Parts: sequence; C-alpha cells; structure tokens
Amino acid sequence: MKKQVIPSLLSADFSRLAEEIAAVESQGADRLHLDVMDGHFVPNLTFGPMIVDAVRRLTDSHLEAHLMMENPGKYIAQFVDAGVDTVMIQQETCPHLYKDLQQIREAGANPGVVLNPGTPLESITEVLPLIDQMLIMTVNPGFGGQSFIHPMLGKIERACDLVGDRDIIIEIDGGVDETTIEPARDAGADLFVVGSSIFGKSDPGAAYVALSKQLGRIA
Ligand code: DX5
Ligand code: ZN
Repeated sequence: MKKQVIPSLLSADFSRLAEEIAAVESQGADRLHLDVMDGHFVPNLTFGPMIVDAVRRLTDSHLEAHLMMENPGKYIAQFVDAGVDTVMIQQETCPHLYKDLQQIREAGANPGVVLNPGTPLESITEVLPLIDQMLIMTVNPGFGGQSFIHPMLGKIERACDLVGDRDIIIEIDGGVDETTIEPARDAGADLFVVGSSIFGKSDPGAAYVALSKQLGRIA
C-alpha cells in the first residue's frame, strides 16, 4: 500500500464535521480514522456507532474504527452496520482475540489489531494470518496531542520484519507531526494517523498536504 496520512477525527470540530472532512478529502484523503473510547480501557469517552453512522453519511471514504474499549466483540456488528470498513481491536482487551478477529471478517469488515506501546509484537504472532492491518501505538492511547514515543521506531522496524511478505498494512497512531513522520516513514510504516497536527491547525487541508508531501505522496 502507498504510504498515506490518515486523518483522525478525534481532533476535529464535531460541530463542523462535514466541513472538516471535506477539507482533507478535497486534498486527496480517502481514508479516515475514528477513535472510539469507552472510559474504561482508556480514561476518555468519545462516541459510538451512532456518530459513526453519521460520519458514514457524510463520506464515501474508507472508515477505520480504532476501538479502545473493553469487550469490543460485543459491538463489532454494530460498528460494521454503521458503515465501518476496517475494525481494529486492542490486543490487551481481547482474551478471545482469535475469535473476535474471525467475527470482524465474518461481519464483512477488514480485521486489524492494535498494540499499546508496552505490548510485545510477539503477542500477535498467532493471529497474523487473520489480520489485514496492524496498528502500533506511538503514544499511550486515550488522548490526542501527546508526544511521540521515540523508542517505538524500533518496534515499527521489527513489525516490518515480523510481517515479512504477508499482505498486512502497518499503521502508527499518536504524536505524528512534521518532526516525527519522516523517521516513522523510514522505519517502515505504511499509514500514519494524524489528529491534532491536522485538525488542530488553522488550515487542516494544508496541514494534510504538507505531511503527505513529507511522505513523498504529493510531489
Ligand atoms: C490516541 C488516538 C489517536 C489520536 C492521535 O489515543 O488513538 O488516533 O487521534 O492524535 P494525535 O495525532 O493528536 O496524537
Ligand atoms: Zn487511534
């Protein structure tokens, strides 16, 4: 997959969601990241399937949901019905990870696994045949606007080795800005989730373009 910046709506102004989405889509974005937080697994609360359904009606872009929640298996069908294309669940919340990933596939979505900074890559070796995407957290999940954890660059490199020639997208999430996107690109990531460094800026479309240029996506 071509290296790509993925706007995270977490930092968008939800009272102007249609405009915020249009600002990045008009510059070429065709994939959006949705952070679902339950106030248990992470200390923050965001939104559920109802808002995802509203986003779906605003856009044809590929929607990826990052479920930072306990018992995500219980809600997979609801998120897929709301229009999510890729469902990513946290390894740490899933004692039945294999089953939950199978359930995502059966529901008709692309399965992905998320790893917190302290969670070893080896913990997902057995589910590699089931996933289309791996999300490596480069901050502790829960909030936008945090600083990139630099030792995660080594984890990204090792994730590339682990994936080998399997068709699995390697995405990173948290603290990606104009200073960290190039080291992360060089470490081998494919997709770069960006929240505050797009929607926290006065011109989100221009911020999206500038970061995309750093990936070499836009000449
Ligand atoms: C953090 C979320 C991220 C968040 C990233 O828990 O998973 O997707 O939007 O935000 P920034 O880019 O501000 O670090
Ligand atoms: Zn996220």
